[in-house]
Amino acid sequence: MQSSQSIESSLSPLVPAYASILSLAPYQAGKPIEELTREYGISDVVKLASNENPVGCSPQVTLAITEQLSQLARYPDGNGYYLKQALADFNDVNVDQITLGNGSDDLLDILARSFVGADAAMVYSQYAFIVYPMLAKMQGALGVEVPAQRFGHDLKAMSQAVQDNPHTKMVFIANPNNPTGTQLAHKELHAFVASVPSSVLVVLDEAYIEYSPESNNRALIDEFDNVVIVRTFSKAYGLAGLRVGYALSSVAVADLLNRIRQPFNVSRVGLAAAAAALADQDFIKKTRLINDEQMRWLEKQFDALGLGFIKSHANFIMVEIKVEMEDITAASIHDALLKQGVIVRPLDGYGLPNWLRITVGLAEDNMRLIDTLRSILTDD
Ligand SMILES: Cc1ncc(COP(=O)(O)O)c(C=O)c1O
Repeated sequence: MQSSQSIESSLSPLVPAYASILSLAPYQAGKPIEELTREYGISDVVKLASNENPVGCSPQVTLAITEQLSQLARYPDGNGYYLKQALADFNDVNVDQITLGNGSDDLLDILARSFVGADAAMVYSQYAFIVYPMLAKMQGALGVEVPAQRFGHDLKAMSQAVQDNPHTKMVFIANPNNPTGTQLAHKELHAFVASVPSSVLVVLDEAYIEYSPESNNRALIDEFDNVVIVRTFSKAYGLAGLRVGYALSSVAVADLLNRIRQPFNVSRVGLAAAAAALADQDFIKKTRLINDEQMRWLEKQFDALGLGFIKSHANFIMVEIKVEMEDITAASIHDALLKQGVIVRPLDGYGLPNWLRITVGLAEDNMRLIDTLRSILTDD
C-alpha cells in the first residue's frame, strides 16, 4: 500500500478534508470465492471468512425478489413503507423510530456523519469491529480505543474514557462483538449507558443478535434517548449481497438520520427481500439451530487439535494459533488453507496476529476446514 506521505504528494495540490483520512487503511473484506477461483484455479471453495449465513436465505426471499424484477426501471420507495411497518411490528417500536440503511455499515456511517465533527471524540473497544476506528478517521475525529478485558468490552474503562474525553460524541459497542464473539450482560450495559452523559450517543451494534437473542437490548431505547441500536439483514437473514440494515432510536434521532441518508439508500429488491426475510422467523430458528450444533462440533475439534478459542455468541469463532512448530503461524495457516480452497479471516488488522476468525459453516464445510487444518498442523 502507498504510504500516507506518498499519497499526500500524489494528491497535491488536492488535500483531503481531514489529515486523518491519509492514514486510513481500506477495509479488508473476506476474500471473495470468485477471487480465489481466479487466483488459484480452485473451483471447490469453502468461504468461512465473512460471517455470512451458509444456509443461504429464506425461500420466501426468492419469491419476493422475483416479483420485483418487472419493476426495476422504477425507483424504490424512498421511505421503505412496508419494510418499516414490518420492522415496527417486529421490534415493537413506532415507524418513525426506524432508519433504513444500505447494510448496517451505511447506518454507522450516517450516524458518524450526523453527530461527529472534527473536534469530537469517539470511544470504542480494542478488538471491536474495525469500522469504528475507520469512522473516527473519516470524520477527522479523535478515536479513543479502550483496552479490552478478556477480549470483550471493558465497560467501566469505557465509561471512564468518556469522562476523560469531554468532547466524546459517540460510543460504539458491538454485542455480540466481532471478531471476538464476546457478549455483554444486560445489567452492565444498562449501568454503562446510565453512566454516560445524555449528550453522548451510544451506538449498540447488534449485527449478530439473531444468534444470541438473549443479548437483545431493544428495551434500552425506551429508557434512553441517546441509544441507537443498529441491526442487519446480512448475517442470520442471509442477505449480505443485497445490503439492508436498520437502526432503532428515538424519533428525534431517526428524524435526523433520515435527513442525512441518501434518498434511495435501499434498493427496491433489498426492501422486498428484507420484508420477506423478516416474516420467515422459522428460517432464523433453523439457522440458529444449525449454527449452535456446528459451533459445538467445531469447539470439540479445536480442543482435539490443541487450539485455543474464545467462547463465541455469534456465527464465528476466534481460534488461537499457538503451535510448538516454529514455522507455523496464523498467517502461514491462513495461506495454506487458502491454497486448499478454504477461506478464513486473518486478524492482523485487529492487532490479533496469532488468531484466525472462522465463520461457522455447514457440516460439510466445517469438516473440510478441520481436515485441511489437521493436515497442515500434522504435516501429512
Ligand atoms: C459488528 C458488525 N457490524 C456491522 C457490520 C456490517 O454489516 P453490513 O453492512 O453487511 O450490515 C458487520 C459486518 O461484518 C459487523 O460484523
